[in-house]
Amino acid sequence: MREIAELSKICASLAKSDLSVEMLDVMISEFSRHGLSGDFARKIFSLVLEERGRYGGEGTPESGLKLREFASRALELQRMGREVYRLELGEPDFTAPPSAVEAACKAIREGYSKYGPANGIKELRAAIASKLSERFGLDLKPDNIAVTAGGTFAVYGSIEAVTGLGDEVIVIEPAWPLYAHQVRWLGRRPKIIKTRFEDNWDPVNMIQEKVSRLTKLIILNYPNNPTGRVLDERSIRAIIEIAEDYGAWILSDEVYMDFCYRDGFESILKLGTERTIMVNSFSKTWGMTGFRVGYVVSDPETAARVARAQNTAITCIPEFVQRAALAALNDEESARRNVELIGMRLRILYEELSRSRLIEVRPPEGAMYIFPRINVEGFDSWRFAWKLLEEKGVAIAPGACFGQSYNNHLRISAVLDEKPLREACRRIREAVEEYC
Ligand SMILES: Cc1ncc(COP(=O)(O)O)c(C=O)c1O
Repeated sequence: MREIAELSKICASLAKSDLSVEMLDVMISEFSRHGLSGDFARKIFSLVLEERGRYGGEGTPESGLKLREFASRALELQRMGREVYRLELGEPDFTAPPSAVEAACKAIREGYSKYGPANGIKELRAAIASKLSERFGLDLKPDNIAVTAGGTFAVYGSIEAVTGLGDEVIVIEPAWPLYAHQVRWLGRRPKIIKTRFEDNWDPVNMIQEKVSRLTKLIILNYPNNPTGRVLDERSIRAIIEIAEDYGAWILSDEVYMDFCYRDGFESILKLGTERTIMVNSFSKTWGMTGFRVGYVVSDPETAARVARAQNTAITCIPEFVQRAALAALNDEESARRNVELIGMRLRILYEELSRSRLIEVRPPEGAMYIFPRINVEGFDSWRFAWKLLEEKGVAIAPGACFGQSYNNHLRISAVLDEKPLREACRRIREAVEEYC
């Protein structure tokens, strides 16, 4: 009992003190004097840091939910008969290719509707391994792959697989909101890097500044949601070097890998060596969001750990869904068409939005989005988004969803055909002028 009281007192005083990374060294040596490992010291240190930052900590876990509510209102207006231009979600308007739909139906008819392996069926893992090997000149095997419930579980399972409780995970903002949310949910600590429009969203120097011995994972996402930025090979190599110096993992979320409209992008698969995980999905390239199928590529042990997390949470991915994914993978023509379509729309978005003196926009490089800055004093992206929806019938995602520093940005998805897209942009320009 006395020991517990003593421990509580120590925890309270640590949580209130100003901890620096240098103090970690002291902690490690003190712990080792008592026969405890450095890893244990690091964990305790991280937990204390977590406690200090619990209130007003970094990351914006609720923003994804707020966007869902906003999208529900857009849908409600649509159902009430209003004309609504919906550009708020990261969901392609094209549906799964007929080849995938047919494969799913056929698989169900043939009885592929039982439990299956947690890491996915061998045929699909072998096909993914062979396509990626061919594309990037690698020698991947089926065991390098784990098929997951979308890119979402691929990210979740990877964080779980390569980090521990209290570990620090670098998240580069503006970012897909689920990164920080998942990191927190799993009891890890997001370390947020806020990249800037003026620096063309370059993260390298900022990573170098923020990385520490507590960093266990760096999450990259290029082509990027929401900025559309594609990082060049030199920058990715520089980040790999930093990660190697600190013994950190890199998770490269490449769900927009196919939507790349500039030269010079390389997958982490080609550049990374040990301690890298690539995440991909069938959601975007083939418009298969509701199928919930994606995958991780890593060393066999890490892929197996992701599969183990999946086994614990949901057993496995339905086999007929995996057979649909297999058909999609072989349907390169559909993928090519979808990628071309999004590229054309991104060019339209750029052209239309550039026409406003108040909207600053960069040429699109990749993904499905454009993330302009609105140069209006005191601009509030949520207030603007609601006004735009209710008054002009256009739904976009407020920049604040992707980090608190981006309240003067909007994310606009390239998910409408040319004519409605141009009309939506005209209304956005008009609404920005009126907001002044
Ligand atoms: C950057 C990023 N990663 C992962 C995902 C997850 O996609 P899914 O779970 O549908 O594969 C999304 C979806 O919007 C995303 O934008």
